[in-house]
Amino acid sequence: MIKNLKKRFPVFTKNPNLVFFDTAASALKVDSMIKAVNDCYAYEYANIHRGIYELSSKLTKRYEDSRLSVSKFINSPSCENMIFTKSATEGINLVSSCLSDNYFNDGDEVLLTSLEHHANLVPWHLVSKKIKIVTAQIKSSGELDYNDLIEKIYKNIHYSLYYQSQQAHLWYLMGLIQLFFLIE
Ligand SMILES: Cc1ncc(COP(=O)(O)O)c(C=O)c1O
Repeated sequence: MIKNLKKRFPVFTKNPNLVFFDTAASALKVDSMIKAVNDCYAYEYANIHRGIYELSSKLTKRYEDSRLSVSKFINSPSCENMIFTKSATEGINLVSSCLSDNYFNDGDEVLLTSLEHHANLVPWHLVSKKIKIVTAQIKSSGELDYNDLIEKIYKNIHYSLYYQSQQAHLWYLMGLIQLFFLIE
């Protein structure tokens, strides 16, 4: 299966032994995505939401339709919940600043893990409210210390937000998958 999957990523044709765990903006690109981006720039490109000429209307529709596809893919209740950002960092900044402005109080705690990428650390330090950042530890094996995590969730249950990061789920430094279902 992995062999077939690898065939879909052109980078492996020139780098057959490559092992690459990086995600977000640096994630490897699959052939269908490269083709779609290429086709768009080559044959379909126009401003979206800003023109009534044919190219613009068609691309606006395709752009909006992609909200629907993503919404279905992640099982979101509505495509109106989809907000596209230009990067993972921008997305997390948006979440942290909106939560802080509308829901946090000074002294609230945000629970992260020591596995987080910078993109999920810095935004929490920059929010408007004076929050405390609490960190769940990892074991020497690189696995999350679930007891520490659970303890910290329960200790602060009345006033903390547990932010289960997508980023830490598959830890790209060591390729470890964290068993978050254990704490559900
Ligand atoms: C796991 C992970 N999270 C976040 C980022 C930051 O992503 P972006 O450049 O999309 O903000 C990266 C960068 O590659 C990453 O590997």
